Amino acid sequence: MAVAGIDIGSLTTEMVVLSEGKVLSSVMLSTGSNSRTTARKALTVALEESGLSQQDLEYIVATGYGRVSADFATRQVTEITCHGKGAFFLAPEVRTVIDIGGQDSKVICLGRRGKVTDFVMNDKCAAGTGRFLEVMAGALEVDLEEFSRLAISAGKPVSISSMCAVFAESEVISLIAEGYPRQEIMRGIVSSITERTITMVNRMGVDGAFMMTGGVARNKAVVESLQKGLAVKIKVPEDPQMVGALGAALIAGEEVSIAGSEHI
Ligand SMILES: Nc1ncnc2c1ncn2[C@@H]1O[C@H](COP(=O)(O)OP(=O)(O)OP(=O)(O)O)[C@@H](O)[C@H]1O
Ligand SMILES: [Mg+2]
Repeated sequence: MAVAGIDIGSLTTEMVVLSEGKVLSSVMLSTGSNSRTTARKALTVALEESGLSQQDLEYIVATGYGRVSADFATRQVTEITCHGKGAFFLAPEVRTVIDIGGQDSKVICLGRRGKVTDFVMNDKCAAGTGRFLEVMAGALEVDLEEFSRLAISAGKPVSISSMCAVFAESEVISLIAEGYPRQEIMRGIVSSITERTITMVNRMGVDGAFMMTGGVARNKAVVESLQKGLAVKIKVPEDPQMVGALGAALIAGEEVSIAGSEHI
């Protein structure tokens, strides 16, 4: 028997199928405008890749902002719990998880057994999120990979004073017109994200190892700047966007084994 987790985020949808503690398939799609259709598609592809049918999935946990769209799920669980669960499974020494996705950012604290002990979240505006980086990369006419590569090798950051993504975009356009070096503007954008994240981290009493999850963990300039600002080493898993879906699948597995032990 197998279990699955699906994470329907504002930008990407991931699904992980597990059997006997092993990953049978992992799928990532763009969420797009119809999260219900995307969730179904993720299920179809994940089943195809794992050579299973839907009846083989004993328990499915859905998470993420669009979790209600997975009408085939057994249960819904918050992203905070799922990212915590996935991160702790990948590295049990982790006590602080920084998840920056497309539309929100979170700092999650874990106890010794991996339970969430506290968290802070910014879901009020695009500032400090992946969406902010996308808008700024658009204004600078580079893709996110190039943005990350150029920002990491920049000199001094040009300070971006606007908090709001809409105003910051106009500010960036003005800075380009004033002739500021593009790489230094990029560095300033990265600093603006990391300063917000560091403020969130400092609101929690953190210690122990750090892990970063969510798509922004793929931006090496952000990771490097956070490591410097926090004076810590941050672990980045091979596929940081998959951690929420992995955590959801692990919770599904636990539900099945709890139900199993109740029947003994
Ligand atoms: N190759 C890449 N290089 C740099 N950044 C990237 C890359 N791929 C994705 N990103 C960043 O990841 C963000 C999307 O992250 P993610 O897929 O975790 O979002 P999500 O889970 O859909 O959103 P949320 O959890 O906020 O609803 C993008 O906005 C972008 O900034
Ligand atoms: Mg997410």
